[in-house]
Amino acid sequence: MGPAGSGGSMSDTLGRADSGPVAAPQQATPEHEADHVVEVRRLSLWYGEVQALTDVSMGFPRNKVTALIGPSGCGKSSLLRTINRMNELIPGVRTEGEVLLNDVDVYGKNVDSVEVRRRVGMVFQKPNPFPRSIRENILYGAKINGYRGDYDELIERSLKQAAIWDEVKSNLKRSGLALSGGQQQRLCIARAVAISPEVLLMDEPASALDPISTVKIEDLMRELVTNYTIIVVTHNLQQAARVSDYTGFMLSDEETKGQLVEFGATNDIFTAPKDKRTEDYITGRFG
Ligand SMILES: Nc1ncnc2c1ncn2[C@@H]1O[C@H](COP(=O)(O)OP(=O)(O)OP(=O)(O)O)[C@@H](O)[C@H]1O
Ligand SMILES: [Mg+2]
Repeated sequence: MGPAGSGGSMSDTLGRADSGPVAAPQQATPEHEADHVVEVRRLSLWYGEVQALTDVSMGFPRNKVTALIGPSGCGKSSLLRTINRMNELIPGVRTEGEVLLNDVDVYGKNVDSVEVRRRVGMVFQKPNPFPRSIRENILYGAKINGYRGDYDELIERSLKQAAIWDEVKSNLKRSGLALSGGQQQRLCIARAVAISPEVLLMDEPASALDPISTVKIEDLMRELVTNYTIIVVTHNLQQAARVSDYTGFMLSDEETKGQLVEFGATNDIFTAPKDKRTEDYITGRFG
């Protein structure tokens, strides 16, 4: 997916690096997947004095769904928010380590956080359309990014990608807030894809939705992953098993806050976990 006609100067600094093979870093990574859009290296994070992530290293394969699972408070949302630099909007946050987007550190000196957030879109647990028309919800980011293409085409394409076009096409002037929760969430996904990100971060995107809307969002993730790389946080283990190609299990304990316990192909994590703690979690013994 190329940028949607925005062509910002940061595209070069954050573009796909063609610098040839790099030495494999020490990290938990699905071994047969070499092409990582996002790679987190030895990442630790503190909110003031409180540590929330400890030495997390993992690579997120291109055009795959990676699920992050683990008990409440283990650092899933914190990890997600480091990838598009949203954590830095919280006062007192400090990070150590690297987050690479196409091999470029998003915390690097010359990297603009706005450009990072354009390349890495986010969908939240609670649908949060702007209190504006469906049309304006889609166009908002495109306008900010100087989109020069056909607005009507962008609107239709984005709403179709988010599988909501047929439900809203008769009246795009309707307020985004007038839609049902499940429709609002798909509108938010449409808004996110309208700026042609490379990565979509989804933090429990279906947990506030009814079962039918949940299935729609899950189906949508499988469709979107042909064009995007998806990282999804979920408390629903069946959902992680259904939608993801890879799964990372995180845990906080007394000694180590926000650690990545195990990371691998979803099928392996759910059928043959290597770590006893992963097994206990997926079999419902704790968390
Ligand atoms: N803005 C914040 N300020 C201070 N501490 C925070 C903040 N956000 C998160 N934390 C702390 O960081 C730790 C990890 O929180 P995080 O929200 O990343 O967990 P989570 O795995 O997403 O949990 P949940 O499944 O409940 O959403 C927790 O101890 C939490 O209290
Ligand atoms: Mg969370």
